[in-house]
Amino acid sequence: MSIEWSNAAAAEDVWDGAGIETQAGERTVALFRSGGQVFATDPLCTHGNARLCDGFVEGTSVECPLHQGRFDLADGRPLCEPVTEALRTYPVRIEGGRVWVALG
Ligand code: FES
Repeated sequence: MSIEWSNAAAAEDVWDGAGIETQAGERTVALFRSGGQVFATDPLCTHGNARLCDGFVEGTSVECPLHQGRFDLADGRPLCEPVTEALRTYPVRIEGGRVWVALG
């Protein structure tokens, strides 16, 4: 079975050290850029309904803006309380100046 890639954003719209919320196919995702690498995750914190694109990106992690829980952007694992449930992440590739996300 082949991977289906969805066009999510212009690569230039994902700024280093920040996140954006966007549509990839039928799904809403959050995109983050850090150190030249782009990550895609579900848009909402697993602890509540906070938008993670409004959080603080540091290295390859994002801090939730509501209660300061942190997630690893590469694999979605929770890094500190109060978050205990992993965040879903998606494979990303950059091609033709666009960010493509594999929703699987
Ligand atoms: S809503 Fe994100 S840590 Fe509580």
